[in-house]
Amino acid sequence: MTKAWGGRFEGKTDLLMERFSSSIATDWVLYPYDIEGSIAFAQMLARIGVLTVDEKDQIIAALAEVRHEIAQGLMPFKDELEDIHMHIEARLIEKVGDLGKKLHTGRSRNDQVAVDMRLFVKDGLREARDELVWLMRAILDKAEAMQDHLVPGYTHTQRAQVVTLGHHLMAYFYMFKRDRKRMQEAFNRADVMPLGSGALAGSTIPLDREFLRDRLGFARLSENSMDAVSDRDFVADTLYCLSMIMMHLSRLCEDLILFSTEEFGYISLPDPLCTGSSLMPHKKNPDALELTRGKSARVFGDLFSLLVLLKGLPLTYNRDMQEDKEALFRSLVTVKDCLGILRLTIEGFAPRRDRMEEAVRNSSMQAVEMAEYLAMKGVPFREAHHIVGTMVKDCERTDRRINDLTFTEIRSYSAAFGEDVNDYVKPENVILRRATLGGASLKEVRSQIDKEKTYLNS
Ligand code: ARG
Repeated sequence: MTKAWGGRFEGKTDLLMERFSSSIATDWVLYPYDIEGSIAFAQMLARIGVLTVDEKDQIIAALAEVRHEIAQGLMPFKDELEDIHMHIEARLIEKVGDLGKKLHTGRSRNDQVAVDMRLFVKDGLREARDELVWLMRAILDKAEAMQDHLVPGYTHTQRAQVVTLGHHLMAYFYMFKRDRKRMQEAFNRADVMPLGSGALAGSTIPLDREFLRDRLGFARLSENSMDAVSDRDFVADTLYCLSMIMMHLSRLCEDLILFSTEEFGYISLPDPLCTGSSLMPHKKNPDALELTRGKSARVFGDLFSLLVLLKGLPLTYNRDMQEDKEALFRSLVTVKDCLGILRLTIEGFAPRRDRMEEAVRNSSMQAVEMAEYLAMKGVPFREAHHIVGTMVKDCERTDRRINDLTFTEIRSYSAAFGEDVNDYVKPENVILRRATLGGASLKEVRSQIDKEKTYLNS
């Protein structure tokens, strides 16, 4: 078709170019924000006398109709109109005639898309945050229910020291708490109103930017018009936040997958989130968790795409920037879905306490507390470590565990051992005795849970 901004061009746009440059299939989701921005812009134009009150009212009423039409799926999208901004403006002009052509006074699609994207990001971050908080609540409830379930804690995937499943789960709570803060910070940085920057330089028309800021609910105005139309830092910030969430989710998935294997057998995953095998009747596969772990790849990829997209661009707007949308939109959807999946998993998994306790008892993890015991009796820790290490080595040779040893046998390794050593190293006592702040003790985990309940409810 003949170009909408016509005068400068002869003839038609190449059909392949039309399809190639069209972004409507992706950016149509910006329509509520585009219309919100346009309504505020019309109000501002009336304030400064570019539109009469009557003209403004006609434009706003027509824009509200367009919003309704798009929401109902009544507006056909066409490649020739390129993007959501042009579709809305073209439809407005169809409705109110030449008057519609006044709306773009002092505005460019460059500041228009910037404001749309900032409004979108602010909402997107709020939605992701809500999903995240639901997951945090689920983790807190589960941690509370499992605050006294003993389980091995691991380093290098080797049984290391006894902890509780509550403590293990709370570790993820704190990761997600940081993610929540990170999203709030990203939100604050995105909370800047770019309209009035025009194509890149502002305008000779006395646009009331402060009015627009207030109407659109932004905290601040952008301070440099060239920066305002080229800045996509807020998209990168958002993708970084989303990537961190996916990295944390992926690790959580990995723990849950491991713990649900026959080899560990500490938990069983909820049936509705697992699938069977077409060939092996006995299989119950943790697909939801594997998919979440897998989908982290695309979110990291989207962050990377955006950085590469931006890094070579001269100021100011360049069409390359249109490519920011798919990355942002699909990462947001992915993260919200994954957060929902993990919430259902956390709510629904069942612990197998017998298996966890067996793993705790059938291990040499008490070696740590034995060495600590000796250290408290005055044996230098390095020496205590060596003594207990020898004990473990001897046990391995005879296929025993250190808790199979009699007191006399233990005593043969060091005269510093007293009768009370057996009690000192019992897992249920260790978990009571640990004194360090933030450590895996019943008391610490209880107080963390209480504190974090207050945090979530505040
Ligand atoms: N669809 C475009 C984008 O998303 C809108 C801005 C177009 N501006 C321009 N000068 N071509 O980037």
